[in-house]
Amino acid sequence: MKMSKDFLWGGSLAAHQCEGAYKEGGKGLSISDILQKCDSHGERDIFQGLQEGVYYPSHKAIDFYHRYKEDIQLFAEMGFKCLRVSIAWTRIFPHGDEEEPNEEGLLFYDQLFDELKKYNIEPIVTLLHNDLPLYLVEHYGGWSNRKLIDFFETYCRTVFMRYRNKVKYWITINEINNLLNDDYLLLMFVSAGIRLAEKPDNKDIIYQALHHQFVACAKAVKVGHDINPDFQIGCMVAHLSIYPETCYPEDTIIMENDYKMEYFCTDVQCRGYYPSYMKKYFEKNNIHIIWGKNDQQILKEGTVDYISFSYYVSNTVSHDPGERKNKAAEKLIKGVVNPYLQISEWGWTIDPVGLRVALNRLYDRYQKPLFIVECGLGARDHFENGTVEDDYRIHFLKEHIYQSELAVNEDGVDLIGLSTWSAIDIVSASTGEMAKRYGFIYVDVDDYGCGTYQRYKKKSFYWYQRVIATQGEELE
Ligand code: BG6
Repeated sequence: MKMSKDFLWGGSLAAHQCEGAYKEGGKGLSISDILQKCDSHGERDIFQGLQEGVYYPSHKAIDFYHRYKEDIQLFAEMGFKCLRVSIAWTRIFPHGDEEEPNEEGLLFYDQLFDELKKYNIEPIVTLLHNDLPLYLVEHYGGWSNRKLIDFFETYCRTVFMRYRNKVKYWITINEINNLLNDDYLLLMFVSAGIRLAEKPDNKDIIYQALHHQFVACAKAVKVGHDINPDFQIGCMVAHLSIYPETCYPEDTIIMENDYKMEYFCTDVQCRGYYPSYMKKYFEKNNIHIIWGKNDQQILKEGTVDYISFSYYVSNTVSHDPGERKNKAAEKLIKGVVNPYLQISEWGWTIDPVGLRVALNRLYDRYQKPLFIVECGLGARDHFENGTVEDDYRIHFLKEHIYQSELAVNEDGVDLIGLSTWSAIDIVSASTGEMAKRYGFIYVDVDDYGCGTYQRYKKKSFYWYQRVIATQGEELE
């Protein structure tokens, strides 16, 4: 079984996790620049600003800003057809609310895209990946403020114009649905710049911020298509497949209700209006949000061309959650332990079949092309003799690719590509560690920025090279 010739095989990155150079080229501070590292199962602290003598992983990250040419050469050697990157808003507008962009920042991405072009690697560009300008948080309250819609529009218009002949595939906001997970306060902060000390009783602020993001994304789609009708502009959600624990009917109702919350964002961004179940949810939970005069029209006119999503884990739900929670990752994975699945060292369930389920569900619901833009295994690698024998990563990816192939070839899902997380080792978003590695290329740097930053090919590098060369036919 294999994928078609034009299938986009590749790997993904995010600016704040790879670039470093946090103050170079006129860049402003982003919210990720003030996040420290935490322990493997902890939650990163959210301070007001930079503290003396503290190590901040994003400040140097893996130094991609200075080493992107070397890295892209390695991606090309693997045969990448695409590379997902994100633009740091703070390189283009350091505070986020300026009228004129920072030319040095624009130039950096010009050079990056030119380098990709040299190897015929298609850039897949996320406009906002957890690195909102910090200034917008401190002076406007992040996405809870409607003004951010305009700032985002100016930013999008600027980069769409500048790169209109260099980039075709765009992604608006990374994992936009993460904002709904209000058990996980770090996600509130990185998704919308909302600083909360505890889970809010009233969810208005969350849904208002999300509404602003919906409107901003819809506007971006419209502006982008006006600038270049060939643009393909997608939404991006974190997708968890969900199972009922038993055939007790209530378990299925709980599963369906959880799925609805998961589909809320894609429903709005693909269909252009709020679904009826959400109106009920707002009523029941006394949630009130303010709509702008033209918001309805904007949402309608700004539906996406495709759906991109990350897939890491699945979730099992029960009418009786009891105590059988997966403690290691309970903020991310709700519900009960699934006895059929193994978990990663970070407590994330490993479920390749869940990816086939996700692809089928999303395609059935929307009939829009899908793009897996994140999927991978975070693991501790043992670097020895200049390489890593990462058979566990190969196994993980092999199984997930196989399930994607079944979804395409057996089930008829329209899948544009698969861009794994991550192309090369980068800083972990949830913990700030380097120890949680996902890449095909090992980067010699530890959790505190010590190391040579040299790159080494892992065993999975050669494996993925073969997979791409055979269009996914040879997975062994
Ligand atoms: C996704 C994010 O949620 O998961 C990435 O879009 C992130 O930025 C990835 O890195 C894996 O999570 P983590 O915490 O293991 O890096």
